[in-house]
Amino acid sequence: MSNLLRLGVNIDHVATIRNARGIAHPDPTRAARMAAEAGADGITAHLREDRRHISDEDIERLSAQIELPLNLEMAATDEMLAIALRHRPHAACIVPEKREELTTEGGLDAHGGENHLRRYVDEMVQAGIRVSLFIDPEERQLVAAHRLGAPVVELHTGCYAEAGPDTWEAELQRLASAAALADDLGLECHAGHGLSYDNVGAVAAITNVRELNIGHFLIGEAIFGGLDSAIKRMRALMDQARAEAAGSRSA
Ligand code: PXP
Repeated sequence: MSNLLRLGVNIDHVATIRNARGIAHPDPTRAARMAAEAGADGITAHLREDRRHISDEDIERLSAQIELPLNLEMAATDEMLAIALRHRPHAACIVPEKREELTTEGGLDAHGGENHLRRYVDEMVQAGIRVSLFIDPEERQLVAAHRLGAPVVELHTGCYAEAGPDTWEAELQRLASAAALADDLGLECHAGHGLSYDNVGAVAAITNVRELNIGHFLIGEAIFGGLDSAIKRMRALMDQARAEAAGSRSA
């Protein structure tokens, strides 16, 4: 099994800052190019229904101008499906979306929403897009994702990231068990949400996890030390945790 752990850099909040002024600066596509130079393996962008950060034009420019694989995060709606089929990004991650939420709160209910989701997964898989479902680390959600034929799941790490000292380990264990089950089911496992320098190591050490998608912390940290340095440090922490986990397994 490959020990590789990819880093997908989510550039949504470059667009949040740009949109605060309604001008063209700072440009998410420029951030994507910098992320590539700093060692990112992919670029993630969430085109929300209300276009609060990433715009349709951003998706067009990212699709045309960046060489890294693009992971389009999207709600399961006909509008988003049409956009995904038009641009055919490398990957599309289906996320739950409510207009009033600040960020993606909780995973997609793949179990309860199986009938609704099937057409979106089928059409994008048929179009050659690598479909992922953003789910909580729960057995029934993984089983539903498998039944739906999605090749990838992304585990929502929000509960882990927000856990206090009493619940941290249990939340980490939930992620590790879910990642192991994903492997058993033949699903590629990704993870993300709320990851930072302080909490990334333990998730990176789960060797069944193949990719982490990280945004808000990196863009926030870029204010203080630059995007290049933030991404390089995150990458180094991920690589170190992964190497240590691989070392302790073979010891
Ligand atoms: N993965 C998914 C599916 C997301 O929707 C998000 C953003 O909410 C992230 C990862 C990145 O989360 P964050 O910005 O907290 O790093």
